[in-house]
Amino acid sequence: MAAEPETAAMEDESDDNEDVLPPAEFRCRARGSVSAEAYGDFNPRVAYNPPFIPKTDAQTARLKACLSDSFLFESLETDDMAIVIGAMSEVQVEPTHRLILQGDNGDCLYVVEHGKFDCVVETDEGNEKVVKSCEDGDVFGELALLYNCPRAASVHAVEESVCWKLDRDTFNHVVKARAQQKRARNEAFLTKVPVLERIDAHVRSQIADALCAETFADGQVVVGQGDMGKRFYIVEDGEAVATKDGEEVLRYTIGDYFGELALLHDKPRATTVTSIGTLKTLSLGRRAFNSLLSTSHIQDLASKYE
Ligand code: CMP
Repeated sequence: MAAEPETAAMEDESDDNEDVLPPAEFRCRARGSVSAEAYGDFNPRVAYNPPFIPKTDAQTARLKACLSDSFLFESLETDDMAIVIGAMSEVQVEPTHRLILQGDNGDCLYVVEHGKFDCVVETDEGNEKVVKSCEDGDVFGELALLYNCPRAASVHAVEESVCWKLDRDTFNHVVKARAQQKRARNEAFLTKVPVLERIDAHVRSQIADALCAETFADGQVVVGQGDMGKRFYIVEDGEAVATKDGEEVLRYTIGDYFGELALLHDKPRATTVTSIGTLKTLSLGRRAFNSLLSTSHIQDLASKYE
């Protein structure tokens, strides 16, 4: 039986403290007022006294549920999650209220509990263009904190909404280094996956956050024919073979993907996929697959069988 984890667990990353640059689309003048804050230069929790904002049990329960829905936070370790939960504050937002202004310095990010927000950027002609709508579980305002640059878009509520705010210092000390490494590593790989070429840069970043890295030894079953599918896989390194009723039907190599059919059609796995030699995969759970890949991307994925 194939091991398909329910939630994404982050693979241990190297200890390299390399500088992480923002993707070209978001590269802009660096934020001047925080010169001491070097990229990737954090020593988590050392001498850091996080804020603690008291909450009712009901608020804590809502916040936990909200973070477990968020790709940026869902795989935090228990201690770190407790610090983040303590530091966050609830924000109730009226329709049209703007929480973030493009070009400002950012000192926090937001996670949507419920409601809807639009992220808009100013065009060269001076108009505003909606680049992303954020709904339950989505994070916005993370770019300025991850890449230490001004706000890349303005964000306002479209309807009455509730979100949770996290301050820059707690994000930096507890979440940033790992989130940044993971995003940079996965984004670099995703730009080379042909089927995701047309994807919006910010959606690609969110897919990078949601990916779960796994390594399979030679001959391990990744998905088993007839099993109910929970994840969509991209080959990061190595090779795999798909067999149907014992017969080989396809081979996969770097950048190829499998596991999409069971998610697309809510049907059992059509083939067994087995590693040939050491296989490294990056996979997306069902929720991320459905919410981050638009209908047109999903059609692109499905078209390989036409
Ligand atoms: P930040 O730049 O800190 O503040 C504005 C936020 O809008 C940004 O982080 C992202 O969270 C969000 N956003 C969503 N889509 C885009 C996009 N295409 N370009 C820039 N920002 C975006």
